[in-house]
Amino acid sequence: MCGIFAYYGQEKKSVSMVIEGLKKLEYRGYDSWGVAAANQDDFFIKKAVGKIGSYKYKESDFPESKMIMGHSRWATHGGVTEINAHPHSTENNEIVLIHNGIIDNYLDIKKNLVTKGHIFISETDTEVLAHLIQEYYEGDLAAAVQKSLKEIKGRYAILVMAKDNNKLIAARRGSPLIIGVNKKNNEYFIASDVPAFLQHTKSVIYLDDNQMAQIDKSGIIFKDLETDKQVEKRVIEVSWNNEEAEKGKHKHFMIKEILEQKNTLKKAIDQDDQQIIKIADEIKKAFGTYLVGCGTAGKVCLTGTYFFAEIAKKHINFEFGSEFPYFKDFIREGSLLIVVSQSGETADTLEAIEAAKSKGAKILAIVNVESSTMAREADHTLLLNAGPEKAVASTKATTAQLAILYLLSHACNGGITEGKQILVRTAAEINDMLNPRYEEHISKLAEKIKSVESMYIIGRGSNYPMALEAAIKLQEVSYIHAEGFAGGELKHGPIALITKGTPCIALVANDETKSDIISNATEIKSRGGYIIGIAPENNEVFDYWIKVPDVGTASPIVNIIPIQILAYQLAVLRQNNPDMPRNLAKSVTVK
Ligand code: F6R
Repeated sequence: MCGIFAYYGQEKKSVSMVIEGLKKLEYRGYDSWGVAAANQDDFFIKKAVGKIGSYKYKESDFPESKMIMGHSRWATHGGVTEINAHPHSTENNEIVLIHNGIIDNYLDIKKNLVTKGHIFISETDTEVLAHLIQEYYEGDLAAAVQKSLKEIKGRYAILVMAKDNNKLIAARRGSPLIIGVNKKNNEYFIASDVPAFLQHTKSVIYLDDNQMAQIDKSGIIFKDLETDKQVEKRVIEVSWNNEEAEKGKHKHFMIKEILEQKNTLKKAIDQDDQQIIKIADEIKKAFGTYLVGCGTAGKVCLTGTYFFAEIAKKHINFEFGSEFPYFKDFIREGSLLIVVSQSGETADTLEAIEAAKSKGAKILAIVNVESSTMAREADHTLLLNAGPEKAVASTKATTAQLAILYLLSHACNGGITEGKQILVRTAAEINDMLNPRYEEHISKLAEKIKSVESMYIIGRGSNYPMALEAAIKLQEVSYIHAEGFAGGELKHGPIALITKGTPCIALVANDETKSDIISNATEIKSRGGYIIGIAPENNEVFDYWIKVPDVGTASPIVNIIPIQILAYQLAVLRQNNPDMPRNLAKSVTVK
């Protein structure tokens, strides 16, 4: 949430370079944006409401500078206005600051600063930090930042500059900040996510929580904010490349990423068997195991509980990241928390990790972003290998997460080879399924239902969480009211919502749940519902059938893909931007 991108170098670069980098991070926040650049004795500052991606400019509109920072905002405190957009500065631009996160105690600090004569112009929590730093600033910017951060409660990734100072200070606690390094040119690129600077460098340093970096013309130094000691940091080469992070020939990232599922499943299961077996052993012997994730990753976790129950005969609990802390009393030494996340930075999941660790539990992270906070906090990490996922709506990461949980559940039952074989076949089936004819067949349905007000999705067993996930996917990009239910639950209340023509999608697997879910679909049809069947075989109850391969217990992995395509097509037909749905942002780094 909120994108940060900054440049510090020995050569002047145009501010437009930072604007272009920010555009690559726009999936993190896109309601307003701003840039600040050291410019002679002052700062050049430009802020605007709206998407930075649609901002057209001439290079000559901007100065060149050796120190530039930019921010794309996802509003938390204060409405979407130019004044509330970052950077925030104090009077005469003495201190200029950008921030990702939330300062929980900003009102108390503000009250105190007002009594000291500080005048605030925005409604944000961020502006308070700029003033606090100014209050302590006596020529040593790093010291003023460090002193201020001691008073801050909450999460932050910040970049700070001061007038006539030529230093860039970066600090983090709970929100990501990564430093791209080009040693040859003595250049630094600081961003909340790697794609912002992939075209400049693949050498990165990950700032850890409670660490600060000071960049000036002599280079970069790192400090621990609590101990005040200098720390050595490792430069790591990232494996993602710039092309992977671009749309290529596709109109939107969402469809690009959906179609990438032709390959991503194979990559997800390309894991070290010995490591999978070792982790499976940990799962088997753990006392109290929780699968934890948020949003789509949460639905994947819930599906995982079915995989483990069905395949490994192992009971695993599930909780959303934001709810997990309320269950922490059931965690003790010997417990295991399996966190699932695309970004590895979701604040609620990180809090769950914190809560579980405080009770002595071990952490397994299943994440896409290597060296993300979760990957670094965990005792074991399994990477999704899905490449950058930039559309806000998760697609390829979802199926990769499902595949890894599926593999682990087989490994828990001593059947890693069998699990892999099923997944290799599933990957091949998905490769065949994702063709233009398939998309066209789904687009006919999208055209038919594009103006409905509500739709419902039902599933049973491991396809019940996929019904919930289907609802999220449809809601977030099409803005159609969509709800998912366990097939058997409908008759206990929600069936009252079915009227003539209400679209209802039934996720069908060729297993013991089949006849019951068909019965549930029939109940809906008898009340006038329009039944869309996602199933390996057609059935007379279906008004519209979307075929999926029969992959046995791996059915959730294939059943969700046509929904992803349908959601995308509905978004486009309804003239929504599927990559940047309203009110949302990728990587939710606030609670
Ligand atoms: C929905 C979606 C979100 C994320 C959730 C967790 O399509 O993508 O619901 O799944 O915000 O994010 P990660 O997986 O990064 O922890």
